[in-house]
Amino acid sequence: MDAASFTMDYTRWAARYDIFYEAAPEGELEFYLNAIGRDGGSVLELGVGTGRIAIPAAMMGRDVTGVDLSRPMLECLRQKIGDVSMAGNLELVESDISEFELQKRDFDLVIIPAHTLALITDASRQVAALKRCAMHMAPDAVLIFNLFNPSDDLINDDSGERFLLGVVVDEDREVRHVLSGDNDFDTETQTNHCVQTIESFDRHGDLIDREELNVVFRYLHHDDVLEMLDQAGLELVEFFGDFDGTPFDDDCEEMIYICRLE
Ligand SMILES: C[S@@+](CC[C@H](N)C(=O)[O-])C[C@H]1O[C@@H](n2cnc3c(N)ncnc32)[C@H](O)[C@@H]1O
Repeated sequence: MDAASFTMDYTRWAARYDIFYEAAPEGELEFYLNAIGRDGGSVLELGVGTGRIAIPAAMMGRDVTGVDLSRPMLECLRQKIGDVSMAGNLELVESDISEFELQKRDFDLVIIPAHTLALITDASRQVAALKRCAMHMAPDAVLIFNLFNPSDDLINDDSGERFLLGVVVDEDREVRHVLSGDNDFDTETQTNHCVQTIESFDRHGDLIDREELNVVFRYLHHDDVLEMLDQAGLELVEFFGDFDGTPFDDDCEEMIYICRLE
């Protein structure tokens, strides 16, 4: 594989993102919406995407600011809010999350859902994104983010087998989407070049569409995250391995961080 040419095409991703996120990890959306409901106040979301979390948060009456560098993703979000009634405000900022700077510096809750910190493929820029979080937090604010756990089994699996991400049924169009992935981990650079495939079948079971989409992650081990939090002036207050609040252990698929300013 030519790593240099293996990049994410957000225009193609934007058109299919919501299908993939129908198959998001169980409990993730509820976990973030519960935090938003519980912790209250203003919300800053880094990597807001198509508004999966930001739109319901604004509908709940929260004032939300979403930062994202992808114009196609933000366009998708804007189209969705055309006919939605929101009790709160939703402000969108087109910027890199490791560089953005807002006038408001006292958000009550900052979130980086859906492994987005790992989509930054450079360690120093991952730290910079955490520093940007700290810079925009009120003194008693909370930062919540989740990453996938790069367990030994996962990163050393060289079976080359495609794995099932999920099956999403579009009842209206009578289409079934089968989502799968093919990982290629490089443990030297801590990167994963993943090809995610979406195969769409009509009601007769005939294949009507097939798309391959690239995703590049720079994965982080828990110790890396602790080091980065320290560099960003943040401290870990809770650490889960599942969105139901299960404490982390090596077998968990997720690493879920709840942090405050030091
Ligand atoms: C996995 S999606 C998550 C979207 C949304 N938070 C959710 O949970 O549905 C990641 C989003 O982060 C954005 N993104 C990735 N790297 C970024 C960066 N360096 N700066 C800003 N946005 C970035 C992508 O454009 C994409 O919309």
